[in-house]
Amino acid sequence: MSICTARMDCLLLPVMISQQSIQQILNRIDIIEILGEFIKLKKRGTNYLGLCPFHNEKSPSFTVSPAKEIYKCFGCGKSGNTIGFLMEHEKISYVEALRWLAAKYHVELEETEVSPEVKAIQQVADSLYIVNSFAQKYFSKALLETEHGMDIGLSYLKQRGFQEEIIRKFQLGFSPEEKNAFAREAIANQFNPELLLKSGLVVSRYDEYLDNYRGRIIFPIHNNTGKVSGFGARIIKTNDKAPKYINTPENEIYVKSRILYGSYFARQAIDKNDECLLVEGYTDVISLHQAGIENVVASGGTSLTQDQLRLVKKYTSNLTIIYDGDTAGVKAALRGLDMALEEGLNVKLVLIPDKEDPDSYVNKVGAAAFRDFVAVNKKDFILFQLEVSLKDAGADSSRKAAIVNQIAETISRINKTEDFTKQQDYIRRCSEIMKIEETGLNALVNKFIRERVAKSAQGSFKEPFTVQEATDQMPPETGEDADMLLLLFKDEMQERAVVKALIEFGVKEWNEEKKVADYFFEEMIEEDLFDNKQLYDLILMYKKWYDEGIEPTPRNFLYHEDQQVSRLSVSIMDFPYELSFKWKEEYEMPVATREDMYKEEIISTLGYLKLRKIKRMIAQNQQDLEKETIAEKQLVLIQTHQHLKQLERELLKQAGTVIMR
Ligand code: UTP
Ligand code: MN
Repeated sequence: MSICTARMDCLLLPVMISQQSIQQILNRIDIIEILGEFIKLKKRGTNYLGLCPFHNEKSPSFTVSPAKEIYKCFGCGKSGNTIGFLMEHEKISYVEALRWLAAKYHVELEETEVSPEVKAIQQVADSLYIVNSFAQKYFSKALLETEHGMDIGLSYLKQRGFQEEIIRKFQLGFSPEEKNAFAREAIANQFNPELLLKSGLVVSRYDEYLDNYRGRIIFPIHNNTGKVSGFGARIIKTNDKAPKYINTPENEIYVKSRILYGSYFARQAIDKNDECLLVEGYTDVISLHQAGIENVVASGGTSLTQDQLRLVKKYTSNLTIIYDGDTAGVKAALRGLDMALEEGLNVKLVLIPDKEDPDSYVNKVGAAAFRDFVAVNKKDFILFQLEVSLKDAGADSSRKAAIVNQIAETISRINKTEDFTKQQDYIRRCSEIMKIEETGLNALVNKFIRERVAKSAQGSFKEPFTVQEATDQMPPETGEDADMLLLLFKDEMQERAVVKALIEFGVKEWNEEKKVADYFFEEMIEEDLFDNKQLYDLILMYKKWYDEGIEPTPRNFLYHEDQQVSRLSVSIMDFPYELSFKWKEEYEMPVATREDMYKEEIISTLGYLKLRKIKRMIAQNQQDLEKETIAEKQLVLIQTHQHLKQLERELLKQAGTVIMR
């Protein structure tokens, strides 16, 4: 069985699990057994009850129904099925959850449509996990059970305040000082030298295989399912010229930009606290854990990458960066700020004083004082940045102007429709701090947004034109990017696609007699086609202009004086995957391309919304039918059903496809 289970690995390694295997797994699922592995469940009547793992509670409100095969927490409202539970609780993808279940129930996973190249990569990844696991055990044993390791490694860790329990939890280890103790052991255990080199555990010097981490403390780095994907190895003797840490080189399972050290141990705590603390180093994470502060991960001393931010965003929207007060660390963190804002994270900053880092500081002042310190000194990152640069600038007015510009740029990055109030709030607070007019700053922020829109519009011809192309360019259907896909293509995107098509192509020719907009408005566009009424409002706005003889161009919307309209239009026009993904997926539809096929796009996007409405009506009708007991009324409902089905077929035919069922 393959053991590609980490999210990041699966991004690298696309695999498809065969339908048979999935079926086999689904047949075996016992919700009580699975959830019971994570929660203590007690039988109460037909249901089971336990303490909810998704929020803090003292009396149990987490209910599991074995009959319905679902769980629901009456405290926090979370609910779902077994797979959903695994995904949520373990922060894994659907495929990862399937793998977890397959391993549990000893179902051999049959993987389909995997190319030989992919298979080869997968095998390397599997082997790397195995060798890493072997190495981790070897290093742990060396630390805890050999005299040499206890003398040098364990005593060092103890002297730094790490207790045995935490050392075991994080699976810390020690690599002996001998030049090839590990290499010999690994080769004796049949590990291939090439693999050992690739893992970074061994290096080749003068035709000899030598241990890479000699005389160092070993920090295993766990992926999100708890497997070891790499190591950080810290030097013990300080007088050396050697680097302080040696890290695993990039390979099939260790991709530095995707790693947040400690995330495996922090997941649940991050969930519960709805906050992720970010520190720089391995030792910071471990010391805070030991102090009972478990919602903490480390970036590894470099500035944050987009992938790391996305990982955080998956757990929570609240990121609190805890760095030492030296400028280098803060500068590094600041470099990631704009990206963090774009990801929709609320970023706070805490600076640790007096040349301490979180590790030394928590050891010095203790857990309670550390918590207090963080709570009291948590600063909003944007406002912090502003204050620091204002202080720097002093009375220099040209530098002040530059700061106003810079802060407007930063604020303009908070640009998701749902963050609109947050943005307004920053505009207000920053203009107060800088003592400038709020409207002025507002205008400046809008300027930056427009500029970015204009820029991306220029490049838009290079953007994917079809969903196929768009999805081709995306990572495969596993892991966090799959979640992103789902988000992107969730129903609202269909509504956006319709509005976008109208705004973009409305004034183009439909035929000799009429324009696209004419056709569009003949097509009974009703409010109930839209779940998002704001989107429907844009259509009404378009119609009003159009009826008044004004040509409504994209600019009318993008530059609209009402900021809400402008923002919404920006987010619609900015959205590159405009086509009906689900349309295709669910109904085997051909997907229109853009520009030269704008008519098809109008028909296709509109058709989707109509079909969706009919599907909903069919579902409602069916529900009514189930409840109805009077024969005559049943008949009416059945007729309605047939009528709706007919409409559905017509719509599908109009879009030129055959229904499979
Ligand atoms: P620090 O120098 O702050 O180390 O680097 P630390 O984690 O606090 O370790 P102690 O407390 O001195 O023992 C922060 C992080 O930067 C990365 C490591 O991930 C480290 O945890 N780093 C640092 C390297 O990768 N290589 C280095 O040579 C130094
Ligand atoms: Mn440190």
